[in-house]
Amino acid sequence: MNSHLIYKQDRLEVRSHVDDSYRNEIAKDVSRGLTSTRKYIPSKYFYDARGSELFERICSLPEYYPTRTEISILQKAAPEIMASFKEGDLVELGSGANWKIRMFLDAADEEKLRRLRYIPVDVSSTALVNASQELRTIYPALEVLGIVADFTIHMDRLPSDRPRIIFFLGSTIGNFDAVTRRKFMRLVADSMNPGDRFLVGFDMLKPKAALEMAYNDSRGVTSKFNKNVLHVLNRELSANFDPSHFDHVAFFNEDKARVEMHLQAKQRVEVTIDELGLTVELDKYETIHTEVCKKFSRSDVREMADEAGLRINQWFFDPRKWFSLAELTLKDLL
Ligand code: SAH
Ligand code: TRP
Repeated sequence: MNSHLIYKQDRLEVRSHVDDSYRNEIAKDVSRGLTSTRKYIPSKYFYDARGSELFERICSLPEYYPTRTEISILQKAAPEIMASFKEGDLVELGSGANWKIRMFLDAADEEKLRRLRYIPVDVSSTALVNASQELRTIYPALEVLGIVADFTIHMDRLPSDRPRIIFFLGSTIGNFDAVTRRKFMRLVADSMNPGDRFLVGFDMLKPKAALEMAYNDSRGVTSKFNKNVLHVLNRELSANFDPSHFDHVAFFNEDKARVEMHLQAKQRVEVTIDELGLTVELDKYETIHTEVCKKFSRSDVREMADEAGLRINQWFFDPRKWFSLAELTLKDLL
């Protein structure tokens, strides 16, 4: 499948790899997920235009420590990392609103900006186009190539002909299950050339109370975000979910070291999904699993890197060690 152009302006281009397959994919994913014994919906379907907006609101909630903590780490790390990167591509996977990359761009002078290209990659095309336009306005010297793609599938379609820093921030790596995470790490490592760097933000293990507060905010934004996936299904697949029949449930699963998000039926629920010709029944208190947010130990990170053929070149933490940013490179071939 080739990409097609969805937006073009001076030194800004957005291409898409997903539009033609999206409808088949959501149908397949949702019918598999909702007919399975333990029902689930893949979390990438959270992010339509409203989902991306709600996510931005989550990031500034007082209880949601990850964004603030990661930004405090980037403030120190970004200038150090950029000092040794002279030219090439800054590829950001799951770029969302492009907030964090600005800290790296701000560490480059205008002459250097001219030698850089920013390549945001995200499934959410509205978020991608809006954020890329905004970025172009702030950094007129910068070339931007936005790519609408699924980073679990299309890694090999991303440009790799120049030196690269690949950014994967916000602990989005924690939103994969263990098998997908391992495959993904391999996929990225396989796409890297010697000298390329892979910068990954990891949310670290911490006391349960802080974790559970972060995903159960007092304003109910996370709940709205979780339920938004039902609106997406209603629209995309002509389903008739009533979000008010569900509770947002998020808790720390200690055995698996991850926060899990579910939508729990408050009563018996029957839903029809016209596009799939499917009727789904949920018992009272039955849940649909919608997200995992894995929390990492330092040895988890070391093992993951090692397994993928990568090594940790630099590792940045906040003083409480609640979050970390690891710079990974290919292991030296001896
Ligand atoms: N990097 C930002 C946003 C993180 S939210 C930050 O750190 O705050 C996760 C982002 O990844 C969203 O913008 C979402 O649209 C995108 N995303 C989720 N699953 C994806 C997938 N499979 N392929 C590409 N993008 C995905
Ligand atoms: N990756 C971040 C996290 O695990 C952001 C995120 C993804 C998130 N899905 C979420 C935050 C659902 C709140 C709810 O925290």
